[in-house]
Amino acid sequence: MRRDDLPADFVWGTATAAYQVEGAVHEGGRGVSIWDTFARRPGAIADGTTGDVADDHFHRYRDDVALMRDLGVNAYRFSIAWPRIQPDGTGRALTAGLDFYRHLAETLHEAGVTPWATLYHWDLPQALEDRDGWMNRDTADRFADYADQVTTALGDVIDDWITLNEPWCSSFLSYAGGLHAPGRHEGTGAARAAHHLLLGHGRALAAIRSARPGARVGITLNLYSVVPASDGEADRDAARRIDGLSNRFFLDPVLRGAYPEDVLDDLGQREWFYENAGAGDLAEISRPIDFLGVNYYSRHTTAAGEPDPGPSSNPGSEFVRMVDTGAARTQIGWEIHPDGLVDVLRMAAERAPGLPLYVTENGSALPDEVAPDGTVDDPERTAYLQAHLEACHEAVAEGLPLRGYFVWSLIDNWEWAYGFSRRFGIVHVDYPTQRRIPKTSARWLARLLGGALDAR
Ligand code: NOJ
Repeated sequence: MRRDDLPADFVWGTATAAYQVEGAVHEGGRGVSIWDTFARRPGAIADGTTGDVADDHFHRYRDDVALMRDLGVNAYRFSIAWPRIQPDGTGRALTAGLDFYRHLAETLHEAGVTPWATLYHWDLPQALEDRDGWMNRDTADRFADYADQVTTALGDVIDDWITLNEPWCSSFLSYAGGLHAPGRHEGTGAARAAHHLLLGHGRALAAIRSARPGARVGITLNLYSVVPASDGEADRDAARRIDGLSNRFFLDPVLRGAYPEDVLDDLGQREWFYENAGAGDLAEISRPIDFLGVNYYSRHTTAAGEPDPGPSSNPGSEFVRMVDTGAARTQIGWEIHPDGLVDVLRMAAERAPGLPLYVTENGSALPDEVAPDGTVDDPERTAYLQAHLEACHEAVAEGLPLRGYFVWSLIDNWEWAYGFSRRFGIVHVDYPTQRRIPKTSARWLARLLGGALDAR
């Protein structure tokens, strides 16, 4: 793999999200988010930790930007914490909150790194959840208002905007599976949260277009390569269901202006959607975007089977079994399948030919160890990144409009329900001291990109 295997104007980035890295949850007038609340619920987080301090990026962002400069990347995808801007989800934006992101963006520009800001990476103001969160249609309008104020204020220093990150997670995983904040069990009703998130995307898009006509705006979806375990009808139907709930239910309204009928049937939500999510909403949701962000990690191999006990994060597909193909997995249990990255890019390109695509996240959790000499050697992560970048090369060679790739993540961080127990960074973080140690994977990336990390 060499840098010039990909086009000269390719975007090479790293990514993080506010609640996972910032810490400083009580500073600058920041309000409480649903993750502050959820992390305190006994048993919700594997290691019982919270994001109160996380990577202390709020105070250390200058050092982290210097790291990016030395890696040689030219873009940084971060997220804006809604409760830093509107502590209770409504009203005038707080200057202190806006200023933090302005300083971050300016520091990035000085380092030759382009800021890419995600407006919603799951940290809903708790006050809005107290009014039923994403199950309430009004939250879509609250989100559009927040997006309007943020882009009006920061549109001079940030051109690239992502409305939502992974709405499957902030709807099904959060409101059906209960594994993410706010930890609710609404069953198939969680599809309504998904609809309100997508409506929020469409309304925010319109607000951003009028506030900042020159902005580039997209949405990031988590897509999976989904294959049936056999050619049998039941296994193929299992694949149809999972592909429907995790991929098509989000891709189709955004790119085609329609929900897939078979998924509405699987969910038993046809009637609610006909009454509450009609053509007007779909016209808003499918407003033209400038790019699609794709987060890709893994493949699902599906078979018909006994339901898992407990609430499902894919309601409507409870009798689907995920099959272990025996392929290597990362520490988080996700199968490593680089070719699937090309599959999901094709899936997007089929629906929106020519629409620029970016891999806005890709990476792996591995049990890294700090050696006695203080180094962190992560050959498996390096191999994972290399294989997925080769898949990017293949996608571009095939003519898919892939324009960039962001590694998840720049630094180890607070991995949601896993707390600090899973590390995705190419830079190790020693949490007690907040010391950053570039891993072998970071050194490999810097050599690929011609960054100055080795001189450190
Ligand atoms: C998806 C999410 O966007 C990000 O926040 C998370 O840490 C990674 N993938 C890894 O699970």
